[in-house]
Amino acid sequence: MQTQMKGKDFITLQEWNNDEIDTLLDVSFDLKRKFAMGVDTPYLLRKTAFLMFFEQSTRTRNSMEAGLAQLGGHANFLDTSTMQVSHGEVAKDTGVILGSYGHGIACRNCFWEIGNDYIRNLAKHAKVPVMNLQCDLYHPMQGLADLMTIQEKKKDTRNLKVSVIWAYATSHKKPISVPLTQVLLFPRYGMDVTLAYPKGYELPDWVIEQARENAKKNNGKLTITHDQEEAYRDADIVIPKNWGSWVSNKSDDVIDDLLEANKYWKCTEELMSLAKDDVMYMHALPADRGNEVEDSVIDGPHSIVFDEAENRLHTAKAVMSVTMGSK
Ligand code: CP
Repeated sequence: MQTQMKGKDFITLQEWNNDEIDTLLDVSFDLKRKFAMGVDTPYLLRKTAFLMFFEQSTRTRNSMEAGLAQLGGHANFLDTSTMQVSHGEVAKDTGVILGSYGHGIACRNCFWEIGNDYIRNLAKHAKVPVMNLQCDLYHPMQGLADLMTIQEKKKDTRNLKVSVIWAYATSHKKPISVPLTQVLLFPRYGMDVTLAYPKGYELPDWVIEQARENAKKNNGKLTITHDQEEAYRDADIVIPKNWGSWVSNKSDDVIDDLLEANKYWKCTEELMSLAKDDVMYMHALPADRGNEVEDSVIDGPHSIVFDEAENRLHTAKAVMSVTMGSK
């Protein structure tokens, strides 16, 4: 177990080794247990984190705000449309200044080919740890909560067939950051990951290369298919979720011919019946109900989406505690 993460940026889980991630998970489980028992956890007493949001959020914002209150500190929510960044102030100036006012900066910026660079620029110049609350490429807070949930439910993650499956949605053109994070992370924990999507919804080639390397080093597996039935068949966990065709098409348009041609990529009870009897259905949420998934699945006995969302609170607290803490 690693204990020297104070000041470490949390931008991707690729930059955290397995020992460090194991510490985050251990701290998350401890914080969850203490929360259940009403035990105080004042690990960040009087510390401040600034939460910059370029986009909407329910889980990420509130898990960070409630989480930091539970740790004895204060999370300052910043809608970036009310900040000088909307008049062109650069990441360097914002990072230096917010870093001098508090103990951490967290940011969500999902603009394609901008978000990750913006967060890295904040981190380069801020003297406090910077946490990625989702960018165009990564969603490490979600990935960590997903891993915690899988460990909690299945104990041994090795050789589990976990299928990350594209699904139809019309709500908005969603980032690729959730599936990207999952295909990189899960093989590091020995999972047998199947990535399924219709042609046109590829993840970047460098991601697949890194995911295969992660799998090789950690006895995991990565299989790619364009057949959703193959992904559901005998799966232990299915994660059907929409992502945008950003790699092949930079347009912000939500609905196009490619999307409409793949309307049948929906998580149905029929597809779920191909999986193992005790299959678990996961989704980072928000779900586009009726499009990505039938209500009877997301509200049914296989769904663990609310446990997954709840774990966002405890993993967020763990990340803040170990990066902003006093050791
Ligand atoms: N899963 C997730 O990041 O949810 P929010 O967009 O509501 O934060």
